Amino acid sequence: MARFFLTILYALVLQSVVGQKIISIESSKFALVMQTDDLNRLHHIYLGEKLSHPDEYSKISKSLLYNGNNEDVFNNAYTPSGTWNIAEPALQITHSDGNPSTELEYVSHNIIRMSDNVYLTTILLTDPVYKTEVNLFFKVYQNENTFEQWTSIENKEPQKIELKKFASANLYLRNNDFFLTQFHGSWAEEMQPETHSLTHGMKVLDSKLGTRAHLYAPPTFMLSMDGVSTEETGKVLLANLAWSGNYKFEFEKDRYDNLRLIAGANSYGSEYQLNPQEQFETPHFIYTYSENGRGEASRNMHSWARKYRIYDGEGERLTLLNNWEATYFNFNEEKLVGLFGGAKDLGVDLFLLDDGWFANKYPRNSDRSGLGDWTENKAKLPNGLGYLVSEASKIGIKFGIWIEPEMVNPKSELYENHQDWVIRQPDRKEYYYRNQLVLDLSNPEVQDYVYGIFDTIFTKNPEIAYVKWDCNAVVYNAYSDYLHNKGLPQSHLYIDYVKGLYAILEKVRKNYPKVPIMLCSGGGGRVDYGALQYFTEFWVSDNTAPIDRVFMQWNDSYFYPSIAMSAHVTNWDQKSSIKFRTDVASMGKLGFDIVVDELGEKDKLFCQEAVKNYDSFSNIIWHGDLFRLQSPYEKPFACFQYVDKEKDRSIVFSYLVSDRFQTMYSAEPVKLQGLDPIQNYTVKETNLYPGTRTRIDEKVIYSGEYLMKIGFNPEVSARRNSVVLEITAVTN
Ligand code: GLA
Repeated sequence: MARFFLTILYALVLQSVVGQKIISIESSKFALVMQTDDLNRLHHIYLGEKLSHPDEYSKISKSLLYNGNNEDVFNNAYTPSGTWNIAEPALQITHSDGNPSTELEYVSHNIIRMSDNVYLTTILLTDPVYKTEVNLFFKVYQNENTFEQWTSIENKEPQKIELKKFASANLYLRNNDFFLTQFHGSWAEEMQPETHSLTHGMKVLDSKLGTRAHLYAPPTFMLSMDGVSTEETGKVLLANLAWSGNYKFEFEKDRYDNLRLIAGANSYGSEYQLNPQEQFETPHFIYTYSENGRGEASRNMHSWARKYRIYDGEGERLTLLNNWEATYFNFNEEKLVGLFGGAKDLGVDLFLLDDGWFANKYPRNSDRSGLGDWTENKAKLPNGLGYLVSEASKIGIKFGIWIEPEMVNPKSELYENHQDWVIRQPDRKEYYYRNQLVLDLSNPEVQDYVYGIFDTIFTKNPEIAYVKWDCNAVVYNAYSDYLHNKGLPQSHLYIDYVKGLYAILEKVRKNYPKVPIMLCSGGGGRVDYGALQYFTEFWVSDNTAPIDRVFMQWNDSYFYPSIAMSAHVTNWDQKSSIKFRTDVASMGKLGFDIVVDELGEKDKLFCQEAVKNYDSFSNIIWHGDLFRLQSPYEKPFACFQYVDKEKDRSIVFSYLVSDRFQTMYSAEPVKLQGLDPIQNYTVKETNLYPGTRTRIDEKVIYSGEYLMKIGFNPEVSARRNSVVLEITAVTN
């Protein structure tokens, strides 16, 4: 009891001296509030829905009775290490004299209005002894309720310092419970969710794969508070690290049951040296928060991504026919030109030539050779790419091409001539991933080479209209000849690889601003908001079986808008109907990877109609709002709805994902969302397979209120396992 009173007394004394500075960073709905203490250390005091009277934030710290033995610092806004801190740090520095301790004190902050919608708050912290400076950046997108947070660290010491840990963000969430939804996967089984309650101690999500770092665990998560969020209810934070390399998210539930969240590039094997006056900027951590469930949170993120992040995120996209599954490596000029007609026949915009078109000394006839030698294979393409581009254009389609410029097969001329450009251990056995190695992008000469691959193709063939940029191998044998020769530490490799990649992509975008580029990585092995600032879309997975895709696209859709998700109709799963495959692909950026001439008459007719339909509603899929109406994890059918901004048109996709009981699965109506309650609508079934009749009476008129309160039954069943409905406002 005596201890209790002493604690209270101490707290009261403490409160009388704390609270010099309050920094509140707000979007239209959400606030992140920090405050300094009596030692000028900066703490998080609030993260949640913003208050109507911001002056009330000053009352918060009085009610936080953290005190005594270091407990009051768990909520530090950027936790340093080596002095008072005994929790997981955000920052670890070995100073120029070898001292491993850092303190950070608040110095100043400023807010810059970048536009009506975007504000940037910068907070300067310094170490009072070593003078090293840390700037915390918070860029807030008001309407999208999205925060972009990062840190820069500047060496103000007379000698080199070493950064041992350098998080982008260190947040503190106060709540009674936390449920983490994380994702894992592998090739052909990307984005599988797991939700669990966070217990005390540390939970870590990370990757150490180097390049396609997200293959097993993408850098993205969802955190629910007050129970597991649903689409329409609950407090939820959605986050993504904009970094195409090793990352680490640390979730530490502390003794107050609150959550310390530390997010950034993985410091594993990545100690980074800074010369005097040199600065290190961390990757950017993107997050959005909602108290109305994950549906609103993901629409926030989609709007932000389309407007501010994805390359040409508010633009148009090209539909295409790809030849990967249609031919694999086995093609020649004649065969390809033969396939062009199929693209025309389907009505898509473009033909995409995949892997296998290059290399002569070691022809690229399988994935075992040729990668790195980017000249047309003379046996397959005697007249070069130019001929293909012009043949495509003769029949009125565009032409695109696959490259994998960051990689090399040991069986290649590039490897023979430039072993020093390859990430490999000089004196050890080489280990391969898909028979290949990764080029050392920390080396500026290699960056020029990789840029040159892109540039040469386009200089020779300026009409090429699309690029699929692949990345199939992880980094084994991490070692850089370049860093060694420069006297730089090997531990710079993982970070400098990604910086090198971004430098190349910057130059690609500067010189080729128009060309759409798909981000591919042996399926969906590399997707994040760092890469997507250069790419118009990404390949979700090599697995295009429609049922698997329903789940993957469902999970990807928490973070990424449909305009960025490439989805193709292929023969991966021939047991599923062409309609099911096409309907699922129509929820993304539609493409095909089939031999069109081998389609049966009705299948072909269906695809042609589906392309026309897609052209008529793609605007809604690409730019509209997504409502996930029925989760395939909860019922045997899934339902997705897209609504245009004007609430005039909506497309609803429903799919049977399990037919264990062979009955009607959507026994009841599904409540629609996002419509105008006072508007009247018709409901029409589209993408009907030739010769089938709809069960939907398109003459009935429904109010928006009815469709949202009572709902509409898509009548999904084993015989109707994929149903696409078009909801259209009735104009008088
Ligand atoms: C990766 C991609 C595929 C295809 C092959 C070509 O696996 O994911 O779509 O491009 O490479 O080798």
